[in-house]
Amino acid sequence: MNDIISKTENYVRAVLQDEATGHDWYHIERVWKNALLIHEKEGAGDLFVIEMAALLHDIPDGKLNPSEEEGWKKLNRYINTLGLPDSTVTHILECIESVSYKGGRVTNLKTIEAKIVQDADRLDAIGAIGIARTFAFGGKKAQPLYDPEIAVRGEMTTEEYRHGKSSSVHHFYEKLLKLKELMNTPAARQLAEQRHEFMEDFLKQFYREWNGQA
Ligand code: ADP
Ligand code: NI
Repeated sequence: MNDIISKTENYVRAVLQDEATGHDWYHIERVWKNALLIHEKEGAGDLFVIEMAALLHDIPDGKLNPSEEEGWKKLNRYINTLGLPDSTVTHILECIESVSYKGGRVTNLKTIEAKIVQDADRLDAIGAIGIARTFAFGGKKAQPLYDPEIAVRGEMTTEEYRHGKSSSVHHFYEKLLKLKELMNTPAARQLAEQRHEFMEDFLKQFYREWNGQA
C-alpha cells in the first residue's frame, strides 16, 4: 500500500504544480500531516483510506478544473488505475465528496475517515497558516485587509453580502472563527483550540494597531 501512497503523492504534486488558488501542493501536504496526527490521537480509522483521501481531496475542486464534473472524471480516471478493491475506491471517493462540499451540504459524515480528513482540511484554514491563506486569498481578489465601514460579527446586511462587500478580516467572522466548533473529532477540536486563540490574539493586535493605540 505504501507504493500506492507514494504514487499518489507524485500524481498530486504534478497536478498541483503552478497552482495558486490556495490549493497548492503544500496545502495538501499540511492536510496530509494533520490527518496523520488526528488519526494517531484518535486511534481510529483506516489509515490508507485517510491518507489517500487527504492527498486527493482537492483534485475534483471546481477551482482547479474547467468544471467540478471534469474534476471528478479526472479523479476517477486516476483512482481506477490503481487496482484497488471497489469498496476501498468507494470509501475514498465518499470521503473526498464530503470534504469538498461547500457550505455544509453534507452535515452527517458517514465514516470516521471522512470526519478526520474534513477536520484536517479545516485545521489548515485556521491558526497562523489560516491567517496567511486568508490574506493571500484577499490579495488575489484585491479585497481590502479590513474595512471598518462594514459591520462584523454577523451584523453584515444582506445588501452588503449581495454586493460582495467584504474584507479579509471579515472572513474571520464569516468562517474561520466558526471552524473550531465544527470539528468532528475530539482530537481535532483539541488541536483547533490553540490555533483559534492565536487568531483571536491576532485580531486584538490588528485592531490595536489599526486604531493607532500604543
Ligand atoms: P477550501 O480549502 O475549503 O477549498 P477556499 O478555496 O474557499 O477553501 O479558500 C482557500 C483559502 O482562502 C482558505 O484559507 C479560506 O479560508 C480563504 N478564503 C476563502 N474565502 C475567502 C474570503 N472571502 N476572504 C479571504 N479569504 C478567504
Ligand atoms: Ni483543502
